[in-house]
Amino acid sequence: MTSVLPQEIATPSRLSFPQGFRWGAATASYQIEGAATEDGRTPSIWDTMSREPGRVFRNHSGDVACDHYHRYRDDVRLMSELGLGTYRFSVAWPRIKPDGSGPVNPRGLDFYDRLVDELLANGIAPMVTLYHWDLPQVLEDRGGWTNRDTAYYLADLASATIARLGDRVATWTTLNEPWCSAFLGYASGDHAPGRREPQAAYLAAHHLLLGHGLAAQALRAGGARELSITHVLTRVDAQNPHDAHDRDAARLVDGLQNRIWLDPVLRGHYPADILPLFERFGAADAIRDGDLDVISTPIDLLGVNYYQPALVRAKVGAVGQANYPGSEGVDFPPQGLPVTGMDWPIDATGLSDTLVRLSRDYPGTPLMITENGSAYHDILEGDRVADPDRIAYFDGHLRAVHKAIERGADVRGYLAWSLMDNFEWAYGYDKRFGLVYVDYDTQRRVPKDSARWYTQVIRDNGL
Ligand code: FCB
Repeated sequence: MTSVLPQEIATPSRLSFPQGFRWGAATASYQIEGAATEDGRTPSIWDTMSREPGRVFRNHSGDVACDHYHRYRDDVRLMSELGLGTYRFSVAWPRIKPDGSGPVNPRGLDFYDRLVDELLANGIAPMVTLYHWDLPQVLEDRGGWTNRDTAYYLADLASATIARLGDRVATWTTLNEPWCSAFLGYASGDHAPGRREPQAAYLAAHHLLLGHGLAAQALRAGGARELSITHVLTRVDAQNPHDAHDRDAARLVDGLQNRIWLDPVLRGHYPADILPLFERFGAADAIRDGDLDVISTPIDLLGVNYYQPALVRAKVGAVGQANYPGSEGVDFPPQGLPVTGMDWPIDATGLSDTLVRLSRDYPGTPLMITENGSAYHDILEGDRVADPDRIAYFDGHLRAVHKAIERGADVRGYLAWSLMDNFEWAYGYDKRFGLVYVDYDTQRRVPKDSARWYTQVIRDNGL
């Protein structure tokens, strides 16, 4: 007596995404472009950092990267073959404004002009991020994001860029993951500029948000139709949810990972439990009257980058983590989950819960997954890269997105990280996140099995 038909077990039911759901992939300028000294580009903080011995895996740098600066036409053709509808890329500040705050370098903008035309000719909607971490070194020499002026210079970059591309680009993103820029760049020092000063990190946090607000205003004035910011967000669990101290630890890390970035933009104030950290680290005076009005300039879309969940507990004497400055007394125990090639725990429920939480706690702002993906140790064999683990990661996370939509989250699209293997910051070329494999010796591109799989997902608008 069987009550379940075997085929019901074998074929899970089809999942369809809403009509008009936007599918695509993302990259960032320093990670793919190369051409580091061409057409007037000056060094960014990542050019500097990658020249400091021991900072980046095997002293890799973005000097050549995927040579996308010269190969963008082929790369766009590849995107079109993969069926991408949206391509998210960032512009290199040191190309567009080689001295950071000074005159525009038209040759720098020419590249993005050509890229946008190529995308449109292939039916791919461009989505431009202004700042994905490659601050001109000349600005870091003047204090980088600890200097309030940098926020105004970002707005100048915004005006110059939209003046050139705004007739063809509808969707604009100010910042990618200011948590990384501020807390990895200035607190843990894992990212450029590699400083380890909590005060600088909190100054940077505020100035990045101010820069977002000023740039958002500049983009709006320049005619931006869809304005956004992208954060790296996650669910932070208390190891023992019944323990008040564990819950406090989770609230603190949630504050530093999620709410410190979300509340100012979407609610117009810093979270009350996080504001004291600006005081404690001597950064409170940076928050001036009127700043939060600028920072909370309305946006049209919230970009969500999701990779892994977080788990914390309270532990007397724990030093905390430098990338959460002020997290003394918080311990980050192993999660006991399978991990990717980055050793990042895999749990797609963290994505659905994050999306549902965003739509509940910050209603009215549509969401888009602007990055999600995984690194694995890919091997090119002949013309093929078999990457079943990556397919499983994407599949699981797309099911989680679908579940979040069913639970009421307003999710408008999904962009895979990344289009192709690239310079993975401090990990150099050691970590491969691409749908497309890059052979760095020859610059040959080979779509991985996951790319073929993703093409089918896009075609079906579902799984
Ligand atoms: C994100 C970054 C992106 C890439 C992925 C793996 O934090 O925005 O550039 O490095 O992680």
